[in-house]
Amino acid sequence: MLVLWNGQLLPRTEVQVDLEDRAYQFGDGVYEVIRVYGGQLFLLNPHLDRLVRSARAIRLDLPWSPSQLANQLRELVAANRLVDGAVYLQVSRGVAPRAHAFPRASQPVLVAYPLPASRPTEAQERGVRATFVEDIRWLRCDIKSLNLLANVLAKETAVERGAQEAILHRGETVTEGSASNVFIVQGRVLRTHPANHLILDGITRRFVLDLAAREGISTVEAPFTREDLLNADEAFFTSTTQEIVPIVEVDGHSIGVGVPGPITRKLLRAFHAAVQATIQQEV
Ligand code: PDD
Repeated sequence: MLVLWNGQLLPRTEVQVDLEDRAYQFGDGVYEVIRVYGGQLFLLNPHLDRLVRSARAIRLDLPWSPSQLANQLRELVAANRLVDGAVYLQVSRGVAPRAHAFPRASQPVLVAYPLPASRPTEAQERGVRATFVEDIRWLRCDIKSLNLLANVLAKETAVERGAQEAILHRGETVTEGSASNVFIVQGRVLRTHPANHLILDGITRRFVLDLAAREGISTVEAPFTREDLLNADEAFFTSTTQEIVPIVEVDGHSIGVGVPGPITRKLLRAFHAAVQATIQQEV
């Protein structure tokens, strides 16, 4: 595997991660996960735009422009002959002796490498179980920061309960998943939490909202409660690696009739068609 490390492509064993990289001590950095279909980085520009926004939000100056990053990531994909998978990219504030305040002089450290990913076909066809977990994260969930401890704990709780995903809630309000956004269908309306400081504005979330509009499905970005979710006709989560996955049960309660519903399936078909079209367009 070749790794992109500060502009260079190196074999994994030659990447010298420093003990005092601030990503280790403080989780002081930001990241992205970008899906690759047919050797193409899917929705690359929105991902890079979000990386820039995340970096700015933590006052980290990126020394690379989005177009430089795009070129480097395309080289990474080509060098690894990656066809179907994903790319993980992180930027830390850099290497410096451990102290909380920003170091006077440090250079950001960028690492990017391929991750395996494939369409979760079975989960998409059958739907999955989810479980409610209290959202204990900080109040800047809009930043895609390396600090994922609360997300890790929530996902682990879900796994221990035999569920695929944790649905996070602050009080009664559902925010998002541990690594995904959550949607419900109420009648003919698709609803998801607004993109504010309480959730990550998922690239897939935005893509699905656009797809829904094109398919003539009404959408509303408004908070909803746990009860709304349990009483919804349909529910699903979205993420770069999972695309759209129907939620058919939450903590033992069936959602709708307990199988993936018609609007979710329509969106899944539209999503797959859009992926196909994008790949063909870009080639
Ligand atoms: N997770 N919300 C959270 C907390 C996430 O971590 C993610 C993505 C999403 C969905 O965002 P997007 O559609 O841009 O992937 C929402 C990535 C995939 C991860 O950490 O692996």
